[in-house]
Amino acid sequence: MTEKFYITTPIYYPSRKFTLGNCYTTVICDSIARFNKILGKDVFFMTGTDEHGQKIAQSAKAASKSEMEYLDEMIADAKELWKMLKIDYDKFIRTTDDYHVKAVQKIFRELYDKGYIYKSTYKGKYCVPCESFWTESQLVDGKCPDCHRDVIDQEEEAYFFKLSAFGDRLLELYKNEPDFLKPQSRVNEMVTNFIKPGLSDLCVTRTSVKWGVPVDFDPKHTIYVWIDALSNYITGLGYGSDDDSNFKKYWPADVHIIGKEIVRFHAIIWPAILMALDIPLPKRVFGHGWLLFGGDKLSKSKSVASTECVDPRILVPRYSSDAVRYILLREIPFGSDGNYSTELFLNYVNSDLANNYGNLVSRTFSMLKKYRESVIPNHYNSEEEIDVDLINSVKKAVIDCKEYIETNFDVSKALASVFEIFSKANKYIEVTEPYRLAKDETKSNRLDTVLRNLLECIRIGTVLLSAFLPDCSKKVIDSLHIEKSLYEDLNEFYKLKTGEKVEELGILFPRLDVEKELQELAEINSEKL
Ligand code: MSP
Repeated sequence: MTEKFYITTPIYYPSRKFTLGNCYTTVICDSIARFNKILGKDVFFMTGTDEHGQKIAQSAKAASKSEMEYLDEMIADAKELWKMLKIDYDKFIRTTDDYHVKAVQKIFRELYDKGYIYKSTYKGKYCVPCESFWTESQLVDGKCPDCHRDVIDQEEEAYFFKLSAFGDRLLELYKNEPDFLKPQSRVNEMVTNFIKPGLSDLCVTRTSVKWGVPVDFDPKHTIYVWIDALSNYITGLGYGSDDDSNFKKYWPADVHIIGKEIVRFHAIIWPAILMALDIPLPKRVFGHGWLLFGGDKLSKSKSVASTECVDPRILVPRYSSDAVRYILLREIPFGSDGNYSTELFLNYVNSDLANNYGNLVSRTFSMLKKYRESVIPNHYNSEEEIDVDLINSVKKAVIDCKEYIETNFDVSKALASVFEIFSKANKYIEVTEPYRLAKDETKSNRLDTVLRNLLECIRIGTVLLSAFLPDCSKKVIDSLHIEKSLYEDLNEFYKLKTGEKVEELGILFPRLDVEKELQELAEINSEKL
């Protein structure tokens, strides 16, 4: 039976247009999903939007629109952005979708019927922008520990979820399932900051917030936005709806990929809810670091906006979806924070995409055209040390790439392994000097072999690359007539069809004049401000 793989992004707040930061998680998940397809798995990749809560209602009001009018526009923009970035999701869930609303009500009722939710009075500290409740001990200098803004005292009749009952089970979970939450530093944070000090019961309804899912048996109460949001991971598969076949097929999730600021919701509240519902837990939660813009998580601070172009809606049409995907995937060591700058982005396009991959493909294709009329040659006796060395390094890179993704979802290192193949192949050209071989008739077989080895490197590297940079790799895959692109075909050289003619390819990544680009982007930016 085909192995299944279910991966999710957080569902994003459409209270503002999606940023490069939101693109970061989504591109990573898309690449991991695509990679698992290459591994032959039956993949389900879900993303979506978290559409309830005070902040959304406020944003709609500020735009003088009804909530749904506002949301529909924002979601159309989000979907357009995912299309531009070649995000190939299987499902886009909106928490305003009718089936989701009904399923959340069912989940709430079930938790209530089982005695995990009870009615009482809430008194505490609440951060309005984050929609998070905090205990006194969690505040930092009296302010919200996440956004450092003021919190307010809140007192109202409310329902509570018995989170306090789950501390020991959560500790057991982290101990028995060391892969549940990654990286390990996040486990330490959860234990030290939240579980060891003692978990409080969680207030899970608000009477003052109207834009949300009402408790069906007590409708003046609106369900806390995080209960509503976290449930998406199962309601999107049909849990709580008539057709729950996807839930049966794909749950538990193989991984929830999220930013580090929302780990506590995913590693404490979400598993506790699932335990209460008697539903298996996701296999992994991965809390990645932030893409920083001038040292800041948000790309909208004034100093950043004036010097840097961080709008994916400008960058993608100008430099291609692959270029933007590349910087997002490559620059940040997965799990840590990393800095984004336009200059870094443009330099990457030149050094890795144009000079390394693009150059390898164009040199190889033009030599093939010049010396072999674009026909894939046979290979003869590849026992020369340089050939054996090339083949071995490619095989190692293929294994490494898979290992990085499978053990740690480390897209950055996986992509670096793929580029290792291209660097090796470029060096192979320098050493074997095919242009010299072409001048000597007695070296004809050797020239065939060298060209064939280069084409095989391009085949193997490009199939791997198709998980990360789908557009340029599709062009190369089509021109080489690669029919299926499965991982199992990457273990060996000489899988291309000898005698077949390759199609012409244009330039994959034109070299950029970095200074000129920076200047033009700054101009575009100043027009926007
Ligand atoms: N709606 C909640 C998530 C609910 S999931 C059940 C939410 N939404 S959000 O719109 O604020 O998106 C946060 C997510 O966007 C982060 O967890 C992260 O995945 C991504 N990022 C937004 N800015 C980011 C960076 N600057 N860097 C990396 N990822 C960032 O929280």
